Amino acid sequence: MRFILTTFAAIGLLGFVVGTVHADAGAGKAAFAAKKCTGCHYTDGPAKERNIADQLAKKGPELWYAGSKFQAAWLKGWLQDPKPIRHLAYNSLTKKNAGDHPKLSAGDAANVADFLMRKTTSEVKAGVIKPKKSLKGKKIFTKKMPCTGCHQSASKKGKVTGGFSGPTLVGVGKRLNPDWIYAYLKNPTHFKPFKAMPTFAGILKDKDLKKVAKHVSNLK
Ligand code: HEC
Ligand code: HEC
Repeated sequence: MRFILTTFAAIGLLGFVVGTVHADAGAGKAAFAAKKCTGCHYTDGPAKERNIADQLAKKGPELWYAGSKFQAAWLKGWLQDPKPIRHLAYNSLTKKNAGDHPKLSAGDAANVADFLMRKTTSEVKAGVIKPKKSLKGKKIFTKKMPCTGCHQSASKKGKVTGGFSGPTLVGVGKRLNPDWIYAYLKNPTHFKPFKAMPTFAGILKDKDLKKVAKHVSNLK
C-alpha cells in the first residue's frame, strides 16, 4: 500500500514538473479548436488545395508546415500581438488587411505555438541556409528578379520600400526559418499548389536561389 502511494506521488510529481517546465502541445491543440482557429486554418498536411476555388475558399493561410516555416519565439509573440503580415486582406487583390486577427493570452499563445511548431514537413532540410550578407543575393532580390516589386523590405538604415501584393519581408530574419525560405523558393507548389507568386526555380540556378534565401533570411 505504502509502495503504491509513493509510486502515485512520484508520478504526480513528475507530471507537475513536466507540466510547469514545458508549454503543453495537447492544451495548444485544444485551445486552437476552442478559439475557433480551425475555422480559418488547416493544420494537417499535405496541401489540400486541388484547384483555384479551394484556394479562394480558404479564410487564412495553411498552417500544416508552421513548424518548418516560422521561428518559435516569433510565433509565440505574434499570437499575442498579431501585426499585419500581408498588406492586403487574405485572397484579395484590392481590400486592405483590416488588422483584426484574433489575439491569444500569453499562456494560450505558448501552448498553441508549441502545438504548431510540431507541424513540420520533410521538404525542409535543416542547416542548408545560414543568414548572411550576399551581394549576389541582394542584386537578384532588388534588381534581377525584382522581388521588391511585390514585397516590402527595410534597408540597413530602416527605410521601408517595395510593393504590396506579397507579404511584407520587413523583420523576416526573426519571423521565417531560413531553410524554409529556400525550400519554398525551390518547390513552392509543395506548400502552395495555387499561388500568386511566380516560380523562380528553373529561372534562377540552385546556387542563386540559395543566395537569395541567404539575403532574405538576413533582412532585419
Ligand atoms: C477569421 C479567420 C481567422 C481566424 C479565426 C484565425 N485566423 Fe489566423 N490568420 C488569418 C488570416 C487572414 C491571416 C493572415 C494575416 C496577415 O497576413 O496579416 C492569418 C495568419 C495567421 C498566422 C500566420 C500565418 C502565415 O503564413 O503568415 C498564424 C500563425 C495564425 N494566423 C494563427 C491563428 C491562430 C492560432 C488562431 C486562433 C486563435 C487564428 N489564427 C485564428 C485568419 C484567421
Ligand atoms: C508578382 C509578385 C511577386 C514577386 C515578383 C515575388 N513574390 Fe514572393 N510572394 C508573393 C505572394 C503573393 C506571396 C504569398 C504567397 C503566394 O500566394 O504565393 C509571396 C510569398 C513569399 C514569401 C513567403 C512569405 C510569407 O510570409 O509567407 C517569401 C519568403 C517570398 N515571397 C520571397 C520572394 C523572393 C525572394 C522573390 C524574388 C526572387 C519574390 N518573393 C518575388 C508575390 C511575389
